[in-house]
Amino acid sequence: MSETESFELSPGRPMTDAEQGLIWKKPLSHKVSEEELRISKEVRRNWHRGEMKIANILLEGDAGSGKTQLAKALSANFGLPYTKVTCFADMDKSDIIGAILPVISSDRLEKLEPAEQAVLQVLYASDGFQSATKILMDALELTQEQASLKMRQLLKLASENTDGEAVEYRFYPSEIVRAYRYGYLLEIQEPNVIRDAAVLMALNSALELDGSINLPTEIIRRHPDFIAVITTNRSYAGSRPLNEALRDRIQHSEKMDLPAKEVMVERAKSKTGYQDESVLSVLADSIIVLDQTARVNAIKGVAGMRSFFYWADAVAGGASAQESLYYKVIYKITTDPEEIKMLEDALKKQGLMASLEDIDVVKKNEHSTMRP
Ligand SMILES: Nc1ncnc2c1ncn2[C@@H]1O[C@H](COP(=O)(O)OP(=O)(O)O)[C@@H](O)[C@H]1O
Ligand SMILES: [Mg+2]
Repeated sequence: MSETESFELSPGRPMTDAEQGLIWKKPLSHKVSEEELRISKEVRRNWHRGEMKIANILLEGDAGSGKTQLAKALSANFGLPYTKVTCFADMDKSDIIGAILPVISSDRLEKLEPAEQAVLQVLYASDGFQSATKILMDALELTQEQASLKMRQLLKLASENTDGEAVEYRFYPSEIVRAYRYGYLLEIQEPNVIRDAAVLMALNSALELDGSINLPTEIIRRHPDFIAVITTNRSYAGSRPLNEALRDRIQHSEKMDLPAKEVMVERAKSKTGYQDESVLSVLADSIIVLDQTARVNAIKGVAGMRSFFYWADAVAGGASAQESLYYKVIYKITTDPEEIKMLEDALKKQGLMASLEDIDVVKKNEHSTMRP
């Protein structure tokens, strides 16, 4: 990206320190991709063009292809706070809009289990900047799904402990609502797994450019700076495709397979610190061949960037390239003997098994000549 080019969308927009802190800072290891540049330019160009505005983006690709990092990079480029929601099958409407929690009296609170007391106190003490799920995720080290379940339990518990008393209710907006109302960049991970059609519909109508979300307390309008970045793994046999209506709301999509080989090598270098280009190049070629072979033969697993990084790192640490191929890459794709055979054959056909062997021979020799 040219040093002078700025993609900031709302320069001069006032932000709190907390919001400022949510804007992603690119680490030195970050490599700007074609996709990043393309999206940044398109969004910037159309930002003030009314109905042509691009504010719902879809990134589809393998795990490890860089979707999340790209979403974060957009936060950095646009100068918008980054936040995310990880979808799960049983998401319900309160996960989209938020939850109403009764505030139970302190003497009733004292009669609860200490663990439950503690969690409720954390929630009651929050300043409302974070969503309830985020608070629970941080305080109890839970996943989004666990936190959502916990919240449902707490709601039940709290309402059981309020009967007959006049109580105060507090509304805890979801992460989605927070991003929507205050104008953040929200990564929505894997919305294709959501089962409840009503939940999908709520999400879908929120994604209209001039959409709104009906809360129990008020109606909130979409902030002009709100950007939704939907990220999904490439659909494979058996996975649910992204809902058509949702897809219809998207104004820009990128299909992110494995990045270009040079980019793979560059990322592995900055990620692992290992600098041997000729070795990394053989490993990258192998990953590309395995990825294609798996796909053509409908083998379920993926050979993606993650496997590549761990493999490169193992080799850099002295492991045999041929052996670690299995425990860093192949067994992650499949343990079925026939499928393994297909993958091996594909590598042999491209001469890559031989190249991996060469790497091991060279390393062995280097090692022995280093000895006195
Ligand atoms: N542009 C990039 N520059 C450098 N490293 C990257 C880049 N994009 C992704 N990575 C690295 O690749 C790995 C996978 O990226 P991630 O964004 O988590 O993938 P995904 O969300 O598609 O599963 C991460 O460890 C990340 O640090
Ligand atoms: Mg991701």
